[in-house]
Amino acid sequence: MSEVTAIAHPNFALIKYWGKEDTISNKPAMSSISLTVDSLISTTNISINKGSAENIWMLNEKEQNDLARINPVLKYLNNISKNNNGCIIKSENNFPTSAGLASSASGIASLVIAYDQLFKLDMQFDQLVEASMIGSGSAPRSLLSGFVILNVEDQVTSQTILEPEEWPLSIIICITDEKEKIISSREGMEISRNTSPLYQSWLDSNKKDIQIAKSAIIEKNFRRLGEVAERNCYLMHEVMRTSSPKISYMTESTNKCIKEINTIRDDGTDLFFTIDAGPQVKIICKPDDKDLIKTNFSNKPYVTKIVEANIGLGARVIYEG
Ligand code: DP6
Repeated sequence: MSEVTAIAHPNFALIKYWGKEDTISNKPAMSSISLTVDSLISTTNISINKGSAENIWMLNEKEQNDLARINPVLKYLNNISKNNNGCIIKSENNFPTSAGLASSASGIASLVIAYDQLFKLDMQFDQLVEASMIGSGSAPRSLLSGFVILNVEDQVTSQTILEPEEWPLSIIICITDEKEKIISSREGMEISRNTSPLYQSWLDSNKKDIQIAKSAIIEKNFRRLGEVAERNCYLMHEVMRTSSPKISYMTESTNKCIKEINTIRDDGTDLFFTIDAGPQVKIICKPDDKDLIKTNFSNKPYVTKIVEANIGLGARVIYEG
């Protein structure tokens, strides 16, 4: 086999990771729960750079000069495969890169799955988790389908809590700005860990939020899940805001979206939102309500694009040649 292509979807955290325990293994300091998002796709093709130890990474058809994110992952994988050659990696995203839509999670998860298949490693799931985590702390969640927990107490483990068909919710993404973020999550979370006076209480609240969200998912309790997800999201953005320098991913457009969501909710429709390291607003709702919500946002000047999604599958190989 000379090349393999794999795909993975980004995932949106409902209980978030913001802060690392260890910057080498990239282990998150807290557990997280996410949804895998089907219509956003990262596609990664991998082949061997025969006769050269150099890794080459093309992202959206542009050769990348900075391989700091993927080289440590490849080093970990090469150790297992005993490969001494470099790899040629061609990745593409069908959505804006580095704009708070979790492109690194899906990019890394698709890379790890493609590599595993190219070298016929048949890696244990825990090893796939470890390899993905080196590239991005949220990437192990994109290996799996549905509602996913990444538990970092003691050993890092990841599991699907519910499969997409067990609780088929809809996701509506309000894109407000497609520009790449100025402060990466990686830099931002180190700043917060070192400077935010709220960081410790953020850490302390994680166990409880995980427990509430996990049981709300198992019980399919939409309101309870929405309440804890919004609270957790607000607290993460407070941690960012109280960091020094202040980190702010939410914009005026983001706030206008939140206001509109609250109005829709007050009018009797169940929905909730989450926001990550970017200004986009991700709305979670029941499938029957998605058209009404989309209509509400379709004529808003502060929303440049609306993307619809369902809860998706985990990373998988789509081509071997
Ligand atoms: C706000 O996983 O992108 O989206 O581990 O440095 O790659 P690195 O960070 P990353 O951070 C995700 C931050 C977040 C919350 C989340 O997805 O849990």
